[in-house]
Amino acid sequence: MPEQQHYQGDDGWAKIAEYLDAVSARNILLVTGNSTYRASGAEQSLEPVLREKEVTHLTCFHTNPRVEDVSQLLNQIDNKESYQAIIAVGGGSVIDTAKLLKAFWINPPSLDEYLGSEDIRELRPAALPLIAIPSTAGSGSEATRFAVVYKNKKKYSVEHDDLLPNFSVVIPPLLASVPQHVAASSGMDALCQGIESYWSIHSTDESRKLAAEAITLAWNWIEKAVNDRSSEALNHMAKASYLAGCAINITKTTAPHAVSYPMTSYFGITHGHAVGLLTARFLTFNEGVTEEDCLDARGPEWVKKRLHEINIKLGVITGDQASDTLSKKVTSLGLEASFSQLGIKTQDDIELIIENGFDPERVKNNPRAINASSMRRLISSWG
Ligand SMILES: [Fe+2]
Repeated sequence: MPEQQHYQGDDGWAKIAEYLDAVSARNILLVTGNSTYRASGAEQSLEPVLREKEVTHLTCFHTNPRVEDVSQLLNQIDNKESYQAIIAVGGGSVIDTAKLLKAFWINPPSLDEYLGSEDIRELRPAALPLIAIPSTAGSGSEATRFAVVYKNKKKYSVEHDDLLPNFSVVIPPLLASVPQHVAASSGMDALCQGIESYWSIHSTDESRKLAAEAITLAWNWIEKAVNDRSSEALNHMAKASYLAGCAINITKTTAPHAVSYPMTSYFGITHGHAVGLLTARFLTFNEGVTEEDCLDARGPEWVKKRLHEINIKLGVITGDQASDTLSKKVTSLGLEASFSQLGIKTQDDIELIIENGFDPERVKNNPRAINASSMRRLISSWG
C-alpha cells in the first residue's frame, strides 16, 4: 500500500505550501464544500498559500455524493493534463468527491460504467497528488483508500490504493465552526468506526492498536468537542477521527455501517447518527456470538475477549451496558435516539432497511452472522 504523509497541527497551512512546492504544483484543482469552506476559515487561510497558483475551484453542493454530482464536476474540468495537484477541503463527502474525480479523471471507464462492473482492474486513478484537509472529525476519509458514492439511492464504495490521499493535513481549528448536529454526527462516525474496526473479522494487531486509541480519545472527548469546542477537545477528536480512518483502511467497516446506508438514503438520517444508534444495538447483538454463527476464524471466545475490551474502553463491563452508555452518549450530543421519531415507524419501513442494508461485503466483516430475521428482530425491538 502506498505511504501517506500526514501532519496534524494548527500550522498545517504552511506544511501545505511546502508540499505544493515539493511537488512543483502550479495548476491546482481545489474541491470544497459550499458554505463551510468560508465559515471554517479555510478560505482565508488557504488564500496566501494559493496566491501565486492557477486555481480551479469546484464546489460540492451535496452531502453523500451521487454519480451525477461527480460526473457534473468532472465535466467542469478542462485541460485535465495541465493540473499538478488536487486539494480537498471539507467533510467526508468532499474528500470522497475529490477521490472520485481523481479515480475517473482518465476515462473510460466512466463512474457510471464502473459501478456496473466494479472491476478494480479497470480503474486508473490520475497520477495527481491529492491533499486532503478535513473540516469535520469525522469520516476519516483523509486516511482511507475508499470513496462512497450513491447511485439510485444505493451506496457503493470505490476502492483503490492510489485513492489514499498523498498528504493528509488535519488542522483542528477548522472544526470549531461546524454546526452542532454535523459535529455530533461526524464524531459518532469516528467513534463507531473505531469500534467496528476493533471487532472486525479482519482486525490485526496494528489495526486494533489504532482503533483502540481512536475509541479512547473519541469516547473521552466527543462531548467536549461537540458541545464546548475547546481547542484541546477538537485536537483529540481530530486525532481520533484520523486514527479510526487508518484502522478502517485496514479492516473496513462492518454491519452497523452496512445497515446505516438505507437509513441515510431513504430516511435522511445523517450517516454518523445512524451508525451511532446501530452500533449501540450491535454491541449487545455481537456479544451473543456462538460457535455456530461466528464469522471470525479466531473463534467466538476470541471475539468475546475483544468485545469485552471495547466495553472496558467505554467504562462498562457487559454488552448491554455498552449499548446503554453509547445510546446515552448519542443523546448527550443532541441527537435523537428513537428511530420512530426519525421516521422509521412501520413494518414496511423496516423491510426497506432490511432489503437494502445487506451490503454482503460489510455484513460478512461482522464477527457474528446476521440474517434477515435476526435483523428484523433487532430493528423491531427499537423504539
Ligand atoms: Fe462512516
